[in-house]
Amino acid sequence: MAEQRRPLVAGNWKMNGCVADLDEIAAIRDHVASGAAGIAEVAVCPPATLLMAAARLCADSALRLGGQDCHAAPNGAHTGDIAAEMLKDAGASYVIVGHSERRADHAETDADVRAKAAAALRAGLSVILCVGESRAEHEAGEALAKVGAQLAQSLPEGIPADRLVIAYEPIWAIGTGVTPTRGHIAAMHGFLRDELRHHVAGSADAVRLLYGGSVKPGNADELLNASNVDGTLVGGASLKAEEFLPIMQFYSNR
Ligand code: 13P
Repeated sequence: MAEQRRPLVAGNWKMNGCVADLDEIAAIRDHVASGAAGIAEVAVCPPATLLMAAARLCADSALRLGGQDCHAAPNGAHTGDIAAEMLKDAGASYVIVGHSERRADHAETDADVRAKAAAALRAGLSVILCVGESRAEHEAGEALAKVGAQLAQSLPEGIPADRLVIAYEPIWAIGTGVTPTRGHIAAMHGFLRDELRHHVAGSADAVRLLYGGSVKPGNADELLNASNVDGTLVGGASLKAEEFLPIMQFYSNR
């Protein structure tokens, strides 16, 4: 029997948010406290500059925080980079690794991503690993092959299943308003679930599989109802508590 997975609704703020936007984090925290997310866990990954202040706001709260990237090393001469240990120290529980924007903007390879995921585990963080195919790969029918290869090459060997979240984010759906069909998402997530059996320590059924890419209040029901979808990684619609709230509420009646 499949294990019960607690859904995760996570916001990726990307390079958005200044001190004034901590009000949104406080509002999300209050929504979580009021039970708006039902059975789901909720996390926000703000820019690193806001992490410590956000952690102060979220002390005694069930709202979790995450970083958006980390360096593979625990410290050292890496100007501008942030170690997983620093994210943990600042109050993060999660770190996103392998986001397609990092892969594109910083030429991150699967090997880089694997080293970052290993660093996250070393630091005591849980990993949100992003995978996803480009538009050209999608149109060529290569989505499963691409994502399968990313998974195989980006996961540290024997990663504990309960410390791993996979976010399937087709690049062509990120920030475009275009979304895959529910059938496409279900097929990809079913494939991911099967593939994970070769890669994780513990039961692959414990790994949460998130869908990400243009999730909005108006399409959350359609997208999150796909089979094997255990939550979502939300970009633009996570920046304002009032837009994030209806997405969290998907899980309030389950
Ligand atoms: P959007 O929700 O803005 O499309 O971004 C998705 C994403 O990249 C989350 O990591």
